[in-house]
Amino acid sequence: MARQSYLLDNAWAQGRARLDAVEEFLDPATIHVLSRVGLRAGWRCLEVGAGGGSIAHWLAERAGAGGCVVATDIDTIYLDARAASSGFEGRRHDIARDPLPTGAYDLIHTRLVLEHIPERDAVLAALAEALRPGGWLVVEAVDYASAVPVSALGADEHARSQSLRLREFEAAGAKTDYGRHVPAAMRALGLVNVENEARAYVMRGGSAGARWFALSMEQLRGRLTGPGKLTDAEIDAMLGFFDNPDWAAISPMIVASWGQRRAD
Ligand SMILES: C[S@@+](CC[C@H](N)C(=O)[O-])C[C@H]1O[C@@H](n2cnc3c(N)ncnc32)[C@H](O)[C@@H]1O
Repeated sequence: MARQSYLLDNAWAQGRARLDAVEEFLDPATIHVLSRVGLRAGWRCLEVGAGGGSIAHWLAERAGAGGCVVATDIDTIYLDARAASSGFEGRRHDIARDPLPTGAYDLIHTRLVLEHIPERDAVLAALAEALRPGGWLVVEAVDYASAVPVSALGADEHARSQSLRLREFEAAGAKTDYGRHVPAAMRALGLVNVENEARAYVMRGGSAGARWFALSMEQLRGRLTGPGKLTDAEIDAMLGFFDNPDWAAISPMIVASWGQRRAD
């Protein structure tokens, strides 16, 4: 089952809807970055913390019958449902605890996972070890430096509720500015050709990004309410802003970093 450090269990009643929002919001940029590293037919790929499986599905189409895609997660509820028809293998696997084969993959990708895992440094090292010589590691992780209100509508409420939410994440071992640290961490592990690209979006109420925020807040309601925190009425008001097209805020940056294991 889900580890305690990860607060947004997939098994939550609206877990699929939250992952749908993430995929709709972020897949276009992820596909852009994965295309940039030159993904080819025949590649062996690993998608870590694959969630709803949309990127594993896309990788399987590109890798083709001569390649293979393994999609892991601590909770494979959604991967199991689509693995066979999408041509990837869904595997229950805790990236912080379970071993990976060494020198096995041409491409390893993970999105919105390592920032949640306290053992992220050891995990990054294990992912680098799992690359074949010449293989690519692509890590996408949040960095909340950009995440400020835009509209006057709901600005104070958003700033306050977001800072509480980030406090809860950090208390559980997450690193909410992890994105900016990944390129240096990749270089320290000996990866070469390390590059990065950070994207942030102006999210309007009702958009996929705002839906992602709303569902995360709903899932965390129990942790965000209480003495010195928010009231249920304040959470409900914030959920209303996330659904109001006159509300806007800048998303966290999604920092995509990629690097290559030296070819032997
Ligand atoms: C925010 S979701 C992102 C899902 C997917 N990567 C995406 O971007 O659409 C984080 C995912 O990481 C998984 N996860 C969390 N901790 C994990 C761990 N220790 N090992 C493997 N997966 C983990 C969760 O179950 C969840 O599916």
